[in-house]
Amino acid sequence: MGQKRDLHIFAERAAAHDFLVNRWDNIAKRAIANRGRFTVALSGGKTPGDFFRRLAAKNGLPWEKTHLFQVDERFVSPADRESNLFLIGETLTKGASIPPENIHPITTEGITPEESATAYEEELRRFFHDSALPRFDLIMLGIGNDGHSASLFPGSPCLHETKGLVVPTVAKAPPRERISLTLPVINNARVAVFLATGEQKAPVMREILEDNNSSLPAAQVRPAKGSLLFVLDNRAASLLS
Ligand code: 6PG
Repeated sequence: MGQKRDLHIFAERAAAHDFLVNRWDNIAKRAIANRGRFTVALSGGKTPGDFFRRLAAKNGLPWEKTHLFQVDERFVSPADRESNLFLIGETLTKGASIPPENIHPITTEGITPEESATAYEEELRRFFHDSALPRFDLIMLGIGNDGHSASLFPGSPCLHETKGLVVPTVAKAPPRERISLTLPVINNARVAVFLATGEQKAPVMREILEDNNSSLPAAQVRPAKGSLLFVLDNRAASLLS
């Protein structure tokens, strides 16, 4: 791997979350000092909820200058408990004083998945002011037991996308229809972070961290001009040598 990679393992999940909250704070303040705003894209799933709650409870984060985007979304109503936006709302944005206009959701209502992906791509191009690749200050990722990350699943043709920023994808398990940022966007981040906790993640973490030839989607996350951070609890790290 060419980029800088950092691995942090914690005995308790809460300690991993506290570490990440502090890292978020540092990255946000540096981004605002350098560029006047902090841009971050969030994943969903079950893992990040408690981290988001801790983030919402942290005093002094610069929410006024923070812009929240989504890494991926399940194609369900935003009121559905399976919605990643619902998770972000319940655990983070309800409790943090973030201006509503700083939240940039993937739309899933009244449009098709293709239209949704196109609309989000347009939103990214508008926000980042050009047609080049957006460069997020921070992209928060999770990892599935099958090695997927964002909504980029093993064997998906979307893994070969080179131009598009946002694609409609299909998962094996419901909710199957998804919208996802593409690898070129993820790999253009200044910092990409994987948060993985629990013993179910142990086998896939071993492959991602110890098999240089892995072709799993999560192993294809290698920010070319950025850094890659892994934050694990003891259980997710239990099979590392
Ligand atoms: C999603 C995701 C996805 C997630 C992993 C891990 O919408 O499902 O954003 O990439 O990060 O599937 O999910 P868990 O945290 O539920 O294990």
